[in-house]
Amino acid sequence: MIFYFSGTGNSRHAAFSLARSDEKIFNIADLMKESSLPSFDPDEGEAVGFVCPVYFCDLPLMMQDFMKKVSFSIVPSYIYAVFTCGGLSGLCQEKAESLLAENRLKLNAAWEVHMVANYVVMYDIPSEEDQQKTLQEAEMQLALIKDEIWEESDHKITISSQARALTEQMAPIYLEAVKTHKFWIDDTCVGCGTCASRCPVQAITMLDGYPSWNTGKCQHCMCCIRCGAVEYGTTTHGRKRYTHPDLRKKKAAGDNAHCH
Ligand SMILES: Cc1cc2nc3c(=O)[nH]c(=O)nc-3n(C[C@H](O)[C@H](O)[C@H](O)COP(=O)(O)O)c2cc1C
Repeated sequence: MIFYFSGTGNSRHAAFSLARSDEKIFNIADLMKESSLPSFDPDEGEAVGFVCPVYFCDLPLMMQDFMKKVSFSIVPSYIYAVFTCGGLSGLCQEKAESLLAENRLKLNAAWEVHMVANYVVMYDIPSEEDQQKTLQEAEMQLALIKDEIWEESDHKITISSQARALTEQMAPIYLEAVKTHKFWIDDTCVGCGTCASRCPVQAITMLDGYPSWNTGKCQHCMCCIRCGAVEYGTTTHGRKRYTHPDLRKKKAAGDNAHCH
């Protein structure tokens, strides 16, 4: 059983790559829409996985909330987490460990997987060629992790003291960045509503035909900014946007309304 959160498709892809045939895969954003979470029912000995992106060396807020609330009919015998990131998962493992422990669950293993860094607010998105290379390497790593999960490995991410110092400074910035007042639309916005319908957490409403962002719901996942008419602050204008190829295929197949 795998639970994932994803903004631009990397973690969704990782969850599907890690799943064994017939394994249940849940999108946390869909589960959290409901007023209460069901109790999940893993089989005896079934692994339970949590897969999500890294935001400012921390977990997405929704994943944090979910880890505190999730409940199971039997205590899962093996729990793991996989963090997809551009290069540094920072405090994610420790945060997941402590949130699950609060919920009387034990994190047995964790991995970070380097995928394409999608945070267009801070940097340029890599070229198509570099993206392909990164995703091919990630695919190989995911295949190895899948085997390790099967063997119930106790793999943990090691974090250097330098990385720890950096991450402790970064995590509070997420709480500031997640406020939505810096989103805006340029004059190419036609009010089609795709950003609102794609948003995994329904943080966008269409007001007078144009998108309006809701602080409190937004995870800062960069799903909406996949549309070139959406901008954030002063840095994104003119920058290419990132979408994992799985979601591009969905769009090409006519599934334009929902990226999840
Ligand atoms: C707000 C934000 C903050 C990010 N911070 C980090 C970070 O601290 N370290 C890192 O390696 N990648 C960081 N990234 C990159 C993402 O973790 C990475 O691209 C991830 O695979 C995206 O997953 P998704 O496609 O499932 O949304 C950040 C991305 C966003 C949107």
